[in-house]
Amino acid sequence: MSETAVEIPITTIEDIGNYNEQTVRVRGWLRTKRSSGKIHFLIIRDGTGTIQGVASKNDVTPEMFEQMAGLTQETAIVVTGPVRADKRAPGGYEMTVNDLVVVGESADFPITPKEHGVDFLMDHRHLWLRSQRQQAIIRIRHEIMKACHDWLDDHGFLRVDSPILTPAACEGTTTLFQTDYFGSPAFLTQSGQLYNEAHAMAFGRVYCFGPTFRAEKSKTRRHLMEFWMVEPEMAFTEQEENQEVQEQFVSYIVQTVLEKRRRELEILERDLTKLEPVKPPFPRLSYDDAVKVLQEAGKDFRWGDDFGAEDETIISDKFDRPVLIHSYPVECKAFYMKSNPERPEVARCADMLAPEGYGEIIGGGQREDNLAVLEQRIEEHKLPAEAYQWYLDLRRYGSVPHAGFGMGIERVVAWICGLEHVRETIPFARLLYRMAP
Ligand code: 4AD
Ligand code: MG
Repeated sequence: MSETAVEIPITTIEDIGNYNEQTVRVRGWLRTKRSSGKIHFLIIRDGTGTIQGVASKNDVTPEMFEQMAGLTQETAIVVTGPVRADKRAPGGYEMTVNDLVVVGESADFPITPKEHGVDFLMDHRHLWLRSQRQQAIIRIRHEIMKACHDWLDDHGFLRVDSPILTPAACEGTTTLFQTDYFGSPAFLTQSGQLYNEAHAMAFGRVYCFGPTFRAEKSKTRRHLMEFWMVEPEMAFTEQEENQEVQEQFVSYIVQTVLEKRRRELEILERDLTKLEPVKPPFPRLSYDDAVKVLQEAGKDFRWGDDFGAEDETIISDKFDRPVLIHSYPVECKAFYMKSNPERPEVARCADMLAPEGYGEIIGGGQREDNLAVLEQRIEEHKLPAEAYQWYLDLRRYGSVPHAGFGMGIERVVAWICGLEHVRETIPFARLLYRMAP
């Protein structure tokens, strides 16, 4: 490097516009290279963006020009040179490269610009994450998670996280991952909700946000064994208000991504007209009416069953924004759901289905706040009463109506990005037949 090295500012590609007409240093990796006799065009990525570096034979030493000719895909490099605004450039800027340092070599990078099968790409997920498309998805994932935090923080919710190692089930005993806790069985949490209810009784409006686990022998395009869930919980709140919070929350997330991640949505070729209508109010449909929709569509659907993926698609196809399906039969929901006093066979709950067949993104409801009823539920569901005594205490000491919901981040990423499968929505997906790399 030249002797003026210390004075040259280092910038990310994202911020390079702040240095127009100045000499900067960019640290990144070589995505591709094209060469004519006298010029090398280096496409450099640094995780924040991509820029074209132009190196002319006249601007560098013959040795350096020769070295550039041999650069291979994903070589780590530091390049130095002046920045130029260029309307035709994808990010609006180009740079001249008059100095280059190779930091890390890269021979035979396995993922080339040609087509690769999904299995091959998943086997190389640690490298696949460097591709432009995967970077767009992960950046949108970040924006979604940030929007969750921002909206909740702005609306008086305190983040209070729930434990991951737990002694008992939240969402049914059939999908628990069991582990050994110094000689006693322990389970990876399926949902932070039960602890969140304790937080709500302590702080009012709370949320937890963390990884959750489901040992489901399911290999649909919507199921992960490990996924991230954001779970708001509100004291002194009934189901109607819970639903209003959900539609505000989801609209804010979608509109924020539309505003701040348009470039990434364009890389993914997402049809934005499908996201633009996502504003309150969201339609509401009772479970009873949803069953009628299915029966009219020719499905042989029995009242009391839960919806399958195809059923959800038939229902959500009727709307241009998410729909809240409410008042499910108590029998197809978890033990903690509060039943409707006027109609005890249905619960005061709702699931939110995303449009375009992306399925359930939110599950939520009002919680049973009556001690005797809840004790009976725990018995009916054959849950070990001992393990739930602390949870029952929340009904013994100042019980209040309360409600909340859980939103699966990966399902929302899949929907907003328009992805076929949830495997691309999280850096390292845990699927039925895949736990590596
Ligand atoms: O509907 P679920 O099971 O609800 C609960 O866990 C409640 N305790 C939440 C609460 O009220 N605090 O899961 C909530 C959401 C689903 O709507 C879905 O978006 C996501 O979590 N989800 C999954 N995402 C990916 N893979 C799986 N296997 C998922 N299971 C649930
Ligand atoms: Mg659910």
